[in-house]
Amino acid sequence: MTYNTSIESVSPEGVIYYLFGATGDLARRKLFPALFSLYKEGKLSENFAVVGLARRPRTNEQFRSDLYDSINEFCRYKADDLNMWNRFAEHFVYMSLDINDVEGFKALDALSSELDEQFAIPGNRLFYLALAPSLFGPVSFNMRDGGMLQSKGWHRLVIEKPFGYDLPSAQELNKQLNQVFKEEEIFRIDHYLGKEMVQNIQVLRFSNSFFEPLWNNKHIASVQITLSETVGVEDRGGYYDKSGALRDMGQNHMIQMLSMIAMEPPSRLVGEDIRDEKVKVLRSLRNYTSSDDVRNNVIRGQYSAGKFGDKALLGYREEDSVDDSSTTETYFSAKVMIDNFRWAGVPFYIRTGKRLPVKTTEVVIEFKPVANNILFGTKHDLAPNLLVIRVNPMEGIYIKLNAKKPGSDNEVQPVNMEFCQSCLVGINTPEAYERLINDAAHGDSTYFTRWDEVSHAWAFVDKIAQAWREESSDLQFYPAGSWGPTAADELLAKDGFHWWPVNGQEEDNVIWITNSR
Ligand code: BG6
Repeated sequence: MTYNTSIESVSPEGVIYYLFGATGDLARRKLFPALFSLYKEGKLSENFAVVGLARRPRTNEQFRSDLYDSINEFCRYKADDLNMWNRFAEHFVYMSLDINDVEGFKALDALSSELDEQFAIPGNRLFYLALAPSLFGPVSFNMRDGGMLQSKGWHRLVIEKPFGYDLPSAQELNKQLNQVFKEEEIFRIDHYLGKEMVQNIQVLRFSNSFFEPLWNNKHIASVQITLSETVGVEDRGGYYDKSGALRDMGQNHMIQMLSMIAMEPPSRLVGEDIRDEKVKVLRSLRNYTSSDDVRNNVIRGQYSAGKFGDKALLGYREEDSVDDSSTTETYFSAKVMIDNFRWAGVPFYIRTGKRLPVKTTEVVIEFKPVANNILFGTKHDLAPNLLVIRVNPMEGIYIKLNAKKPGSDNEVQPVNMEFCQSCLVGINTPEAYERLINDAAHGDSTYFTRWDEVSHAWAFVDKIAQAWREESSDLQFYPAGSWGPTAADELLAKDGFHWWPVNGQEEDNVIWITNSR
């Protein structure tokens, strides 16, 4: 089987990248560094231009100086080769734009023709909107009305989440975008899909003969997905207080990861086939049917004041731009069931939260115990076999096995066999944004979310949000720096499970066989 990694190939044709929101945080932290890494690795070719767009006046020189600072602060490569830096920076220009004024878009179109000529670009245009979602529609209309979509190459729109606030608002937004762009021209970013190990899920599943035969309800007892963060809401209180963990992480990153774990093998490992299989999983998600159903299966929490070591931490309600009686959840965990042939009866436990003790993203596949264990003539309580996929910040996998304790007659010892990928390649794996920008420039939408995926995810999440709107008394507080409300432990305990400690930080008696320790 070959695996299509378009990141490997050099951009075959010229492109103008338009960065709307070029003076913002995302551009500084992620987009500029991603473009520089692609350039440094020879994946951009010389036929490209980047137009930074924002309302604020800025000269090209100031813009390039911002670019330089951002790369030296956030990029995995530094701009230490002056010749190369100059060659790179001359592809960047800045234009101040009032996005409500179509005249500005006409001027942008004229500038684009000049850039096409200067850099031998055949009219291909990639619009990256790092803007508030309420502006996606108006900006698209003005692009069209300003004549920007009449160039002879292709036109693609890349947009950041959130895609709507609920299903009706997402439908409305999609309707607006569809007046200007076709579905195959819209690239909805979920940056988790650009992560190395999330993409690796398919390769692990479909290229190893010892996983796929066991990948079903006959052999798997449960699946756990954890996306924990140590940060609080930082300076994003205004956005987050209206969003909360369910919309910020659940509707997108978590449901996407769940669908990659649960999907059927696609007929080919290519974009539409993969996305078709993910949609089938989303259609099989068991929707919660009542407020009681939500209360029994979904836990919501909000961090109160707490500590990391000696450092005192504020409670969520004391954070900037957060309502002091806010009931927004900064944590949620849920038991999700997938009603299809493969997964009937297997609980998927998902959890995410801010101000948890560890920053990590992990998937744990827990296998069913061996039947009637008669090892050494006695019944041992064996630890279940686990497959743990470590997504972030460490990348790799480990498998938990049972083996005979060396030298003993009748003792069984758990052994963790680990492949630590980040120990081998260090920080040199491409960042999610590098892959995604490069994929969009190649027209590869495999790791972007299609409209039907987005709408199914909203339909699932809206049931929870609706129950929470009707009943706020089940919000539970957890001290910042803890693992969330204790009710989240009970959620699993009533099914006979427990959350596995992250990073394999657990029992002393496990032998590790690893390239990391
Ligand atoms: C973003 C959320 O999508 O993902 C943030 O809006 C969150 O709230 C971030 O902090 C986490 O991403 P990562 O890549 O750091 O795990």
